[in-house]
Amino acid sequence: MSRRNPANRQHYPFNLANPEREVKLLSGKKLDRSEHSLLGIHLVTYRDIEAAAARLQGQANLTPVITSRTVNDRTRSQVFFKCENFQRTGSFKFRGAYSALSNLSPAQRQCGVVTYSSGNHAQAIALSGKLLGIPTAIVMPQDAPLVKQEATRGYGAEIIFYDRASGQREDLCRQLAQERGAVIIPPFDHVDVIAGQGTAAQELIQAVGAIDLLLVCCGGGGLLSGCAIAADALSPGCRVIGVEPEAGDDMTRSFQTRTLQSVSHPKTIADGARTLRPGELTLPLVLRYVQDMVTVSDQALLRSMFFLWERMKLIVEPTGALATAALLEGIVSAPDRRIGVIISGGNADIQQLAHLRAS
Ligand SMILES: Cc1ncc(COP(=O)(O)O)c(C=O)c1O
Repeated sequence: MSRRNPANRQHYPFNLANPEREVKLLSGKKLDRSEHSLLGIHLVTYRDIEAAAARLQGQANLTPVITSRTVNDRTRSQVFFKCENFQRTGSFKFRGAYSALSNLSPAQRQCGVVTYSSGNHAQAIALSGKLLGIPTAIVMPQDAPLVKQEATRGYGAEIIFYDRASGQREDLCRQLAQERGAVIIPPFDHVDVIAGQGTAAQELIQAVGAIDLLLVCCGGGGLLSGCAIAADALSPGCRVIGVEPEAGDDMTRSFQTRTLQSVSHPKTIADGARTLRPGELTLPLVLRYVQDMVTVSDQALLRSMFFLWERMKLIVEPTGALATAALLEGIVSAPDRRIGVIISGGNADIQQLAHLRAS
């Protein structure tokens, strides 16, 4: 189904139940089978996704699934777009954030939550905190776009700035959490976050029935691993492919080498996928449940965003168009098959888009 040479496939660690298969972390440490289970393989299951879905009931939008004859003709397949650009706060991130915050104990809720993000996770945590009456603080770089600062503050979160040049945001976050007794909810490497993100694919498959292929946008891998667990449970035999920007291919290389690989300062318009490395929970889950990873160029992303905009009337941000681009650009194809595509977010800077379109 994908262009990747099938001969390579045999090297992929599909079956982590095989004790010979192992994952090497950045530190060089190899994880054996029991450690996999500690790091997520058995920590996040379809039951967690069902539990997250119950917590999200009545809070998250049941986002639409859209089809397009033009896309079906062009790809010679039947394509179902799950439109998380219509989710609350404009991206799927609300699912994971609300799933995590709503699972905190009363004592944890009182002390509040801190996180680090300048993007969609920040807004999702801020709104979830507001809905649940939990104080939230977001560590953001001083130069985060004003619109994102305002949106986050608008949902009632406290913003704490750090200097990109001198500060490590994770360290500052840890320090704050210690001072306040607050809980850190990271953007992707968290059981309840991953389970919440998985509800996007759960809803898609519940709406359209079994699918043969699922394409998912990937940054740190929270959305991808959650959706892959859901697909495995609800549509057995469905192949799941994660899509990253070319410049931010840390998960793709980690997948290919079964070793945690990082990138430094990826330059891509897909700002939600500028993560430096996969998570220690998400990587083993991706190795277990995902069948392939592919990358797309920024030019391909732009073409796909404009296609979604002009032909399907959907405003999608660059990161949100990753999975669509892999399909529309023919990087992945599956003729005569039923394909699910997650459109993960719509928080695009319209002025920037118009400018790019004109040029
Ligand atoms: C719109 C959008 N899509 C995809 C992603 C990637 O999500 P994950 O880090 O769970 O892989 C992000 C992350 O910020 C995002 O904002």
